[in-house]
Amino acid sequence: MIGKLNHVAIATPDLEAASRQYRELLGAEVSTPVDMPEHGVTTVFVTLPNTSIELIAPLGEASPIARFLIKHPDGGIHHICYEVADIEAAKKALAAKGVRILGDGEVKTGAHGKPVLFLHPKDMGGALIEIEEV
Ligand code: CO
Repeated sequence: MIGKLNHVAIATPDLEAASRQYRELLGAEVSTPVDMPEHGVTTVFVTLPNTSIELIAPLGEASPIARFLIKHPDGGIHHICYEVADIEAAKKALAAKGVRILGDGEVKTGAHGKPVLFLHPKDMGGALIEIEEV
């Protein structure tokens, strides 16, 4: 079912410092910050040869990563995203095996403008998993 690793998302309390670290210390290609009010995050995209890293910082009061950063004040790996060819088929197959979908269970538009779902970490070995249709 799953294809390529699309991205790893790292939550950070300091987007500027994290961007600088990836650009200057690691020599990566780093985007300017993009506000995503509908997701409650500001995102910086780090482009690697085989995947990408998304540095995410809270945006607004009701940010979904605010609680994560309270638990992990230095930041940390927030989720990983796998590609699927057909997200509705993936959703049905996962739900049939008892995997819970976060939120209202419906497919949303993700940071790349593509359909996404988030799978409950308790059903996925403790990792928050995003699946994205590409
Ligand atoms: Co993501």
